Amino acid sequence: MENKDLKELYETARKWTLEAGERIKHSLTDTIEVEYKTSAADLVTQKDKEIEQFFIERILNEYPDHHILGEEGMSETTPADYQQGTVWIIDPIDGTTNFVHQKRNFAISVAIYRDGSPLIGCIYDPIEEELFHGCKDNGAFLNDEKLPVLTSCSVEEAVISFNHLWVVPNEKVDYEKMQQIVLDVRGVRSIGSAALEIAYVACGRLDAYLDFRLSAWDIAAGIVILNELAGISTTMEQEDVDVFNLSSTIFIRPGLDEKLTSYLL
Ligand code: 2AM
Ligand code: CA
Repeated sequence: MENKDLKELYETARKWTLEAGERIKHSLTDTIEVEYKTSAADLVTQKDKEIEQFFIERILNEYPDHHILGEEGMSETTPADYQQGTVWIIDPIDGTTNFVHQKRNFAISVAIYRDGSPLIGCIYDPIEEELFHGCKDNGAFLNDEKLPVLTSCSVEEAVISFNHLWVVPNEKVDYEKMQQIVLDVRGVRSIGSAALEIAYVACGRLDAYLDFRLSAWDIAAGIVILNELAGISTTMEQEDVDVFNLSSTIFIRPGLDEKLTSYLL
């Protein structure tokens, strides 16, 4: 891809993400129609669908040969093979429960992958007006500020985040191992938006974020951003994360990864 084309695509992704954020922000006083997806803990609103549609219309108009993978599945152009061509991976609202209950702590997550590889990532918190973004080999930023490359820290110094589900009996991870992590780290937080939690690892507000049931749209943009900062995206078994085929996912400072994953083996 020509540098000029990449720069333009990156600018366009940021512009649309900011625009979508403004739309969500201005709708916060509207009545939010909430539906259950799989359970009462798995919500979707008309805003999620509207924002996904906002991206679909723009992408199909501007880049008709690109493909779209959105959480709400509203695109008719979902690719048969994610390893081919340009794919936009979109979570219109990541942290829908927060959006409904708190009206904060949610984000729009937009990634562009080319031939299966991470290229562009944008995560926007419209309430805080924080746009985390990155482009392969061009660094990562919080708004206009370039983020520094991440360095290691010890387990005792680490403030990490994960969902409460992983410290009670569950099918994905040994909860007693997670309890030992809780006992050994400096602090544990749970924000409720995977995209924001990965962005917080990128900017140093968190040292690690762990989840065991995420989907491509929750993490695709965060991976691009972390890659630019020497941040690690890994699995419990210390394998590369395959965004299109997920199991466990850990986003973490380099050097802390082996120390923390050793608890889980
Ligand atoms: P969502 O808000 O876009 O659904 C909450 O801990 C985080 O996990 C959010 O990023 C949420 O994304 C994500 N998540 C992924 N799968 C989920 C599920 N089955 N139930 C609830 N949250 C889920
Ligand atoms: Ca979502």
